[in-house]
Amino acid sequence: MQQQTWSQRFELALNPAIARFNASISFDIELIEYDLTGSVAHAKMLAHTGIISTTEAEQLVAGLEQIRQEYQQGQFTPGIEAEDVHFAVERRLTEIVGDVGKKLHTARSRNDQVGTDTRLYLRDQITQIRTQLREFQSVLLNLAEQHIETLIPGYTHLQRAQPLSLAHHLLAYFQMAQRDWERLGDVYKRVNISPLGSGALAGTTFPIDRHYTAQLLNFDGVYANSLDGVSDRDFAIEFLSAASLIMVHLSRLSEEVILWASEEFSFIKLKDSCATGSSIMPQKKNPDVPELVRGKTGRVYGHLQALLVLMKGLPLAYNKDLQEDKEALFDGVKTVKACLEAMTILLDQGLEFRTNRLAEAVAEDFSNATDVADYLAARGVPFREAYNLVGKVVKTCVAAGKLLKDLSLEEWKELHPAFEEDIYQAIAPQQVVAARNSYGGTGFEQVSRAIQAARSQISAAS
Ligand code: ARG
Repeated sequence: MQQQTWSQRFELALNPAIARFNASISFDIELIEYDLTGSVAHAKMLAHTGIISTTEAEQLVAGLEQIRQEYQQGQFTPGIEAEDVHFAVERRLTEIVGDVGKKLHTARSRNDQVGTDTRLYLRDQITQIRTQLREFQSVLLNLAEQHIETLIPGYTHLQRAQPLSLAHHLLAYFQMAQRDWERLGDVYKRVNISPLGSGALAGTTFPIDRHYTAQLLNFDGVYANSLDGVSDRDFAIEFLSAASLIMVHLSRLSEEVILWASEEFSFIKLKDSCATGSSIMPQKKNPDVPELVRGKTGRVYGHLQALLVLMKGLPLAYNKDLQEDKEALFDGVKTVKACLEAMTILLDQGLEFRTNRLAEAVAEDFSNATDVADYLAARGVPFREAYNLVGKVVKTCVAAGKLLKDLSLEEWKELHPAFEEDIYQAIAPQQVVAARNSYGGTGFEQVSRAIQAARSQISAAS
């Protein structure tokens, strides 16, 4: 029989279609463990402050823990009649412990309750995602360590610019992930504030102790204003914003992997364990993992946008619109976690750099032209003059189908008397990279130091 949810004020049962429309149980069941944990703390606080007796609180806590077990064993599967996870738990509790179960909701509203649950959930998720970011960084570092002396063309405007140490390229992503990790740590500070005890919107007439529940739940503090406590979703928006930036980074890396795997670049080989075939073209090996990551990025941006729009017109305090925060948040969390996991596996085991091809690539272009200009500038020729001169040289070489290294010493000297035999050494790709030894540059010495610094960064506590 349908149990009555609302007060005696209601005379008619809810239209079944409206009941389905209103219900959130199909997705907010995700919060159940946090709902139980929050309720345990609330029950203990009610006894601590003398609002209910210790025996009553013990009964409530035992009942709540029984529900946790039932849920974990797949025996608690509330349906649409429960409306949401909070009602589902309260009903089951009353079935288990009897009328005392009806005391649990004293001095509390679903408004502060759902805010508490969501924060407890997100706090856990942030911790897990930060751990995943560390794994991702560590795989990038391992790869970087293997490829300090591997050269790769560096691009601006997707045109060959200057050659790089491959490690330097990979370490750029390490730094992005480092900011992501730090940013999530910062978001965590504002997630970890307790709204519990804000009541429906105005606080409560009972002598509750908000700091006590906050402490039991390991929150760092409590919301100072009850209206703000029940209606704030900044923390969810901040999370989705940080999540969107993680996706920006993963998607840029994905794009590069996709390009590198193409016949045209051929910088990497995809291993069978992380690539897929075509149902019609037997020769194909497709980079589905980075393509999916790139594709899923839009979902996370979409969830961020959804929450921003959700919030912009809401008057204080709680409005049912806020129920819509959950699916966006949950899917954002799941998507980021899945993408981080897949990209970490892909980098760790799914691809191999084709070092021979990379060595050829950096030797067959004019990406050492800046170094010829630098060579002259270091010998007193004003840089702009040197730059113009090298431009001419490149033009002549292109017309003659030659590279800079193919010019004879006489030809160099004709261009400028400052050229000596050591010009050949100065324009060799290995030297071109080694010479960029400015702090944060691609020079091998800098890159080795950057790897060391990165290692200590990820092994330092928090
Ligand atoms: N299921 C609701 C939500 O997710 C819980 C809070 C309901 N509060 C209310 N006043 N109707 O937002």
